[in-house]
This record gives sequence, structure tokens and C-alpha cells, in this order.
Amino acid sequence: MTTTYETRKELISALRYQLDSGIDVSLVDTPEPHTPYMSADSLLKTPEISASIEAPHVTPQGESQSQLKPELRLDTQAQQQSSATQVAAIQHTPSTVPSSSLQPLEQLPSGTPDLSSVSTLGQLKDVLSKFDGCALKKTASNLVFSDGNPDARIMLIGEAPGRDEDRMGLPFVGESGQLLDRMLGSVGFGRNDVYITNTLPWRPPGNRTPSSEEVQMLWPFLCRHIELKAPAIIVALGGSSAKLLLESKMGILKLRGSVTEKLFGGRAIPILATLHPAYLLRTPIQKRSSYSDLLQLRAMADNLNPAATI
Ligand code: URA
Repeated sequence: MTTTYETRKELISALRYQLDSGIDVSLVDTPEPHTPYMSADSLLKTPEISASIEAPHVTPQGESQSQLKPELRLDTQAQQQSSATQVAAIQHTPSTVPSSSLQPLEQLPSGTPDLSSVSTLGQLKDVLSKFDGCALKKTASNLVFSDGNPDARIMLIGEAPGRDEDRMGLPFVGESGQLLDRMLGSVGFGRNDVYITNTLPWRPPGNRTPSSEEVQMLWPFLCRHIELKAPAIIVALGGSSAKLLLESKMGILKLRGSVTEKLFGGRAIPILATLHPAYLLRTPIQKRSSYSDLLQLRAMADNLNPAATI
């Protein structure tokens, strides 16, 4: 799965994301797979990029990159590796949490329609739009079902729609969505390479934390959504999504970078947990960890069997 950047703007945005993540050295002049068609060297000389490089990277605490404690600096050895080696190294870093099966669809909370007869994503959207059992629907303006490519092999699962998503009826269209696009772009993916949904299809009023009843009530819909989509890889974006999908109480900073297989419709699907873009907007220093997860996603996607159906 190789995506080339179609416009200069996409390319610069991807490179800027890498710079924010601490990848500030170009290692090779000849493009590696997934690196842009211009040499890194000439790109780094463009006015847009050189301006970002010359400005010192300042952390939220006001420290420049060079003043950071050694453990927070990008590993110099890692900087000297080729991007392919970095991917390989990162692939071996995460822990793999043992697999366990999720709550079967037969044990539905009362009031949930029978979803076993729902056989397409379109039907599921329709059933969900007619479902009146969840109070979140009453305060939301729109159902936020999904975006991206229904045929993509990567399914991203965020938390809940925010104000912009509620207004437009699409996930990740606000500020977090823009960052998500840049994150994906930094490893050569566009929206068309992924399918995106959330654990909840309606915005909790005022972006409040959804209650566990709401999450439980909507879980069978998400479960069926995953079964019908049958992705080859799931990415859990953020703590709520990761905890729900991985049935874990651990915080996202512990879960991120881990890959756990879970059963959906009898198929084991690997779930990669990573940081939510909204968190990265508040805590940009964590973009470095996020970028290593993204490289891992890229490696996982590149290792998929092209002939397999999921
Ligand atoms: N945050 C999410 O988790 N999902 C969205 O769709 C938007 C912001």
C-alpha cells in the first residue's frame, strides 16, 4: 500500500508533521519508499520548510528542543538509522497484549434492535439513525456514522463527535481532524486509505464524557460496524476508544504502541492503540510517540497480504 503525495501542500504538511515529531534530519538524498518524490534535501531548502526549521522547536513549557532533558530528545542513534530500519525497530518495541473475545452480540442491552440481520454498512447507518434508545441522539444535530473509504483495510476509531462533526455529520472534520489528516499524511496515507468512525455516533452535549450506560448501549452498534467493515487493522484513537476496544483500564500512555488482537465476527483483528489528535494539540511533545505509532501502522499495512480479503 503506497501513497504518493499528490500536491506540494500535502507533502509540506507531511514533512512539517515529521519536523514537529522531532524528525529534523534528512538521512538520504534518494527517496525511500513513502518519502516524497522531491529529495529531502531540496525540500528542506524550500522557504516554507526552512522557516520552520530555523524557528527553534519550543515545548509547551517554553523549552527549546536543544534544552530538553536527554531522555526527551530524539534518539541520535535512531536519527542515524534509515527510515526502513526505524520502522523495523519500532515494530519490535510494542508489547502485544493477549487476545480475548469481546462481549458477544447475543448479549445485547435491552432495547437494542437485532443487528444480526443487518448485512451492509448502509443498513447499519439506517438502523442507527432510527434508533431512539440513546438520549445523546436528542441533543445531537446529526448522526456521525463514518468517513473515508469503506474499502480501506485500516479502520480508525475515535471517541465521539465534537461540535464541528455534529454540525457536518462526519467524523474528524474539526481541528483534531485536520491534525489527523496531517498525521496520516506524515506516513503517506490520505483519507482514502482509511475508514473512520467513533465509539459513539452522536455528540455528547457540551462534549461531556459519555456515561458508561451510553457507551454500553452503543457498543453493539460499534461491534457490528467493525464486523461489517471487516478491516485488516483497527487503530484506536485515544484513551476512551482504546480502553473500550481493548477492555482495559490502563491509561493511553501505557496502551499506545501496543497491538492486541480481538475477535470480531470470529475474525481476529489487530488493534493498534495510539494517541488522540486532540491530546496532541494540547500536548505537542507527545507527537514523537504518536509518530512512532504511525510508522508502526505503516509497517503493519505494508505487511498485509495484498491478496487477502481483509
Ligand atoms: N474527536 C473524536 O474522537 N472524534 C471525532 O469525530 C472528532 C473529534
